[in-house]
Amino acid sequence: MRRVVLIGFMGAGKTTVGLALAKLLGWRFRDLDGVIEERENLSIGRIFAERGEAAFRQAETAALRDLLQERPAAGDLVLALGGGAFVQEENRLMLEEAGAITVLLEAPLEELQRRCRDEQKVRPLAGQESDFAALTTLQKRLLQKAASLLKPGGMLVYCTCSLEPEEGEAQIAALLAADSAFRRIPIAPGEVAGLSEIVNAEGDLRTQPCHLPHSDARLAGLDGFYAARLVKA
Ligand code: S3P
Repeated sequence: MRRVVLIGFMGAGKTTVGLALAKLLGWRFRDLDGVIEERENLSIGRIFAERGEAAFRQAETAALRDLLQERPAAGDLVLALGGGAFVQEENRLMLEEAGAITVLLEAPLEELQRRCRDEQKVRPLAGQESDFAALTTLQKRLLQKAASLLKPGGMLVYCTCSLEPEEGEAQIAALLAADSAFRRIPIAPGEVAGLSEIVNAEGDLRTQPCHLPHSDARLAGLDGFYAARLVKA
């Protein structure tokens, strides 16, 4: 039996993409959270509230194990996991043993936060806006740490898959303002196949969905990437 398993943070689009992919492939679709709710006859919100996260994780692993042990006759499967499911090592090993193809879906933190806020789904672990803010702060600290580890003369390439300036341009602007040892080496259009539209005025790479137009809409556009190249004096 072939299986594609979608993983990623809350709000990454695992269920939405999973449904569309299953339709495209003509495969079955299951959402692990939905399977857990059916088996426990309780909503995810109530499992967390009444039994706690540890009990939820046990139910999650049991549901995943049973799904992975289904007979081949059940048919090929697209499976969307809950955000935390792949974090559990036991689950990761089970997926690896089963030979499942795992696909990580990513989105900028701000976008994940917006989706979790706007969607109807009850997410016991997504209540705190500050949780997301903490992740953006962590991103800043990672960059500062990398900058401090770099030897003089070394090059730092910062790259993020995000359309949000807070996660891209602003992070580099803050680093350059705080640490005079760093200087930007602008990216030349010749280094990116002559696509001058994906290099911004500062010489950083900035791709957007409007780039690389194509008459076939399915082939058009670029994901939102930002990259800057710095050197340390
Ligand atoms: C969780 C994510 C949720 C759900 C549960 C716990 C997590 O799924 O499994 O609330 O630990 O990240 P989604 O990623 O579909 O929101």
